Amino acid sequence: MKPVSGVAELNIIHYPHPTLRHVSKPLRTVDRTIRQYIEKMFELMYAAKGIGLAANQVDLPFQLFVVNPEGVQSSGKELVFINPVLKSPRGQASAEEGCLSLPGLYGEVARPEKVQVTGFDLHGNEINMIAEGLLARVIQHEFDHLQGTLFIDRLDENEKKQLAEQIDEFDIEIRNLQAANKIPSDKEIAERLAALERQYC
Ligand code: NI
Repeated sequence: MKPVSGVAELNIIHYPHPTLRHVSKPLRTVDRTIRQYIEKMFELMYAAKGIGLAANQVDLPFQLFVVNPEGVQSSGKELVFINPVLKSPRGQASAEEGCLSLPGLYGEVARPEKVQVTGFDLHGNEINMIAEGLLARVIQHEFDHLQGTLFIDRLDENEKKQLAEQIDEFDIEIRNLQAANKIPSDKEIAERLAALERQYC
């Protein structure tokens, strides 16, 4: 079957694009097209100087994210998480986070310090690892994306207030883009995600 959207069209979408609130579905199969999407996700992530990227950040509805804690292709380890599940959270740590879908915005987020993650890698091998420190933080941030949750949802009230104006600017930007027909309507976006889910989930 012909893919619903080509790899060439993948781009990082910005808040409040509706796909960022979409609850991702498990992948049933990983074919050549999905592998190309993953390759492109790493490319986009490096170009944007990120260390993690979730599928719905490139307008795809799948339970899939990529991570490289070093953020550089030539160093660090490229990790692919398919249908991930998090369990056994331990401890608590607070640190500043940013997000490629909210460029220029940073805030302090408290999360468990350690977490167990299971799922599958690109080759269908089972993953079962305990992550801590920065890796645990990235994995939880990306896992949140798959549930339609953004790091700004996890800011404390005080910080939320401080960033409110910057967050509003993103709202205005996307509505202007939609009004100018530069991005599809909410309905068209939902239909495209549903078609991809029928094909792969
Ligand atoms: Ni993010």
